[in-house]
Order: sequence, then structure tokens, then C-alpha cells
Amino acid sequence: MTSYTSRWTIADALKVHADDPTTTMPVIDQNFPTMDESVMIWDTGALRNIHGQTVTFKGWHVIWSLAVDKIDLNNDDIYDEWHSRNDRAYIGYWYSRTGNGADWQWGGRLLNTSADLRPHEWSGGLVMREGTGNVVDMFYTSEADSPINQSVPSVSTGQIFADANGVWFGGFKTTTEMFSADGIHNANSQQDEYFDFRDPHPFVNPADGRVYCLYESNVAGMRGEFTIGSEEQGVLPPGFAVDAGAQYGAASIGIAVLDDGAYKSGDFSATRWTQLDPLVTALGVNDQMERPHIVFRDNLTYLFTISHHSTYSGGLSGPDGVYGFVSEDGLFGPYKPLNSSGLVLGNPSSAPYETYSHFVDPDGYVQAFIDTLPAPGEDPNNPSTFRIGATLSPTVKLELDGDRTFISEVHGYGQVYAQAAWPVGNAWDHRPATV
Ligand code: FRU
Repeated sequence: MTSYTSRWTIADALKVHADDPTTTMPVIDQNFPTMDESVMIWDTGALRNIHGQTVTFKGWHVIWSLAVDKIDLNNDDIYDEWHSRNDRAYIGYWYSRTGNGADWQWGGRLLNTSADLRPHEWSGGLVMREGTGNVVDMFYTSEADSPINQSVPSVSTGQIFADANGVWFGGFKTTTEMFSADGIHNANSQQDEYFDFRDPHPFVNPADGRVYCLYESNVAGMRGEFTIGSEEQGVLPPGFAVDAGAQYGAASIGIAVLDDGAYKSGDFSATRWTQLDPLVTALGVNDQMERPHIVFRDNLTYLFTISHHSTYSGGLSGPDGVYGFVSEDGLFGPYKPLNSSGLVLGNPSSAPYETYSHFVDPDGYVQAFIDTLPAPGEDPNNPSTFRIGATLSPTVKLELDGDRTFISEVHGYGQVYAQAAWPVGNAWDHRPATV
């Protein structure tokens, strides 16, 4: 392990507590509105630039979502369909003049089916290519679960168009694979049949102007054969015994760097990326750190990731939600867990699966989707009472105060705020990519 990889330790995670009012999502109203009755959506992200700012295009707000069409597959109810949604996930988009939740218009599929190297399109990000008028890169995860688990961070390139009536896209006909799990920096399918390797998040590091890409991964090594040493444990309370099952938590936040010159020409092919050691590992703590993303603010580097109650290991527990780490020394850390524990915003225990896939923008606005809400007065863990969401939750605002965070505001369902406008020529308050 190299010197820079930071750890989310068992001792940190022991400080995670659900229902602290400063780190808990508000309980969502049972009568939440649905964006569009024809489609079910979950992971969502705003059109952005490579510096992380949410952008409008010719005055339109644009977001992408993982989606399945709302079809009653089994001719019974939609419940099974929601829970098997990963098997038919495609990426679609929405547009709106205002960014208000009530105004999103469903635009349909983004990638042509000819772009699909594998059956499933999973998360990534939709990024305007700097230096162009309307080129847009959809970074995403090309996924298949048979004959073996395959998961490859990939990119498809298209163009965005807009007029007074709406937004549409061209291109997105082919896919370029960016990099694959290598068994050295991250676990591959031979080491861990349940390996995670997905959710590419490219960005420019303001300190060096280079393009990097974060992704969800697992610690390299054979599943079931890790040693949880003192570095993974942290400072444990007297008498605390590490459970043997702790080693089944082996999440990591991976990072790769793109060759100089490759970004401007849009060459994202595998020979142009170099995978580096992970920024953070959660060995002994949790098996999934999904959708990692980054915010540079107040000379601090904030790293956010989503995780589940069900993926904690070794008897640890915490709510589904967004977790985070902060570095005072730039991209490569060292990182320490925000709020001491790592928990930034979790679901309330009265609605433990109400939201997921939180994404924090540079101003601290957090977007998420509604997963399932228990009926009022019913057992919050009994799925038979759940109302399925499949639509965006209220946007909330986070205050980022050094190494602490606080939820401070609740906004509308699916509310998106932009920090910049495209095409370039409008005010830009970031440093351009030098590569
Ligand atoms: C998060 C996530 C992502 C993945 C997608 C698949 O909700 O698990 O890691 O890309 O959902 O639906």
C-alpha cells in the first residue's frame, strides 16, 4: 500500500449514528409527486463541466437518470420491476427551463442502443467538453452480469442541441472503454466475484490542471483473505473485538489519471489512462463506496460517496446515504472522515430506504432519488407497506464547515441549481484545464 491511501477505519465507523438531526435527511411526505408516470428513475446527475459546476445549455437545465420504462412485466404490480431494475437500466435525460422539480420534461433515451457493448447502462456523468460548442461526453458504466460479472467504466460522445421548445442530442452511437479492474489497484472478478468497478467521475484537479477520474472499486486481493490490521482498525475502545466478518468489507475509491493532451482531443481510450492507488479504502468497514465525487472548496478537497446499511461488515452499521472525507492537502490527501464518522447525510430510521444515490454539487446542494417509503405507522422495515419512489427526492442543502457538515435547507423535489452557463463566453470562475 502506498503512502497516500487514506483509510475509513473501524474506529471512525463506530461513530456513525443514524438520526443525528445535522446528518439526517428529512422524512419525505407519502404524497410525493412523480416526475413522469411512464418511467421509473433512480441515480441522476446534472449536466456539468469538467470542473464540477452544474451548467445550463442555452438556458436549459439538463439532467440524466438511470431509467426503466414503467411496464408491468409480470402482469401483477410494479414492485418486482423496481427491484430488478438494474437488469434493464438505460440512461435517459430530462430538460427544464427552471430546474424546478415540477418542470422536468422526459427526453427519453440518451445513448443509441448501437453504443451498448453490454446490456446495462449504469451510473457516470454527463460532461460538456471544454473548448467545444456542444460536444458532450456521457461517462457511464457498461455492465453485464453473465456469464461473469463485467463492469467497465466507459464513455460515449454526442452533441447537445436546444431551441425554444426543448433539448435533444445527436451522436452517442459508439462506446469507448476507459479502463478495467486490474487486480493490482483494485479487485477484479477473479479475486472477488462480487467486485464493484463503476461510476466514473472525471474532473480537473485545480492544483495541476490534469484530468482525473474517480470510480467505485474494491481493495485488490482475494475476497475472504484480508487481514484487518491496526491501520484498518484505528483506535478501538477497550475490549472491542474485531469480528472475523469485517474483512468482507473491502470498498475503495479508485482514481485514474488521463495523459496530457488526451482530454482536448476526446481520446479517452484505455491506453491514455493510468490507474493509481485508491484515494480511500474502507477495508474492515464497508464493501461499497459508490458514485464517488469531489468538491474543491475553501482550499479543502471534499470526497463524497454513497453507501448502504447492508454493505457494512463485521457488525458495524449505519444508514443508507452519503458519506464523505476531507483533505487539507489536495487531491491525494490525507483524508479524514467528515464529522469524525464519515456520515454526511443518512436516511432517518423511520424511513431507512427513503432516498439513495445522493450527489453533492459545488454549492452543497444534494440531489437524491426516492427509493421506498414505508406507510405511516407501519413497520419501517416491512417492504410490503412500501410506496416505491422512482422519482427525485427534495433537494437539500449542506453547509460544509471545514471537517464538519450540517443540513441547512430543504428545497423542492428534483430542484437543480446551475453554477455556470454554456456555451462558454459567459462568466467562468474556474481555472481552465491545461491539458
Ligand atoms: C448506485 C448504483 C451505482 C450503479 C447503479 C446501478 O445507486 O448502485 O453504483 O451504477 O446504482 O443501478
